[in-house]
Amino acid sequence: MTVRNKASADKATACDCSRRVVLGAGLALVPWWAASSKADDETDPTEILPQVGDHFVYLAGDNEGQVVKSADLVLDGPQIQAYPADPSGRVRDGSRLNLVILARIDTTGVAPETLANAADGVVAYSGVCTHQGCPVNMWAADRSAFYCSCHGSEYNPKQGAEVVAGPAPRPLPALPLKSADGVLLVAAGFTAPVGVQN
Ligand code: FES
Repeated sequence: MTVRNKASADKATACDCSRRVVLGAGLALVPWWAASSKADDETDPTEILPQVGDHFVYLAGDNEGQVVKSADLVLDGPQIQAYPADPSGRVRDGSRLNLVILARIDTTGVAPETLANAADGVVAYSGVCTHQGCPVNMWAADRSAFYCSCHGSEYNPKQGAEVVAGPAPRPLPALPLKSADGVLLVAAGFTAPVGVQN
């Protein structure tokens, strides 16, 4: 890690990462197309990618398992990690590719493409780093950026999660949102393949 990245790590805020072992580095990621094929034969609803109308539940922490509401998220604060869940409450945690991060942002000056995918000022992205598949588990408060602690990649939540530092080769795919009485819901599928792409 470069000096800059070490400094970044020192300043970054950890998200609740109690499941980091499960979601951590070194795992061979299932290709996006393979994950998508699960939706076709519906072998396991917990493994398929987020579906339109899904809500979100907190991955861990004091709110673990609870429904994510836009008002719960701190404006310009750290992202939260969550999994989608179907309307019956079944959590789609059968695939690590389903990890999602959500953040509430000040929408002033935010790119129109980013705003189009937001609801109640909240944006959602894949929580799987595009570099080597670690969970994007920290927040660089001084730069208002998502931070991957594995190798220091940073993503700008206000600009489509574009890469602003580190080795990640591409932005985090966005997950378009809508809101129903403050409950955040999936409005469309991921805008790009999630995880590591060769
Ligand atoms: Fe390498 Fe995220 S996995 S920076």
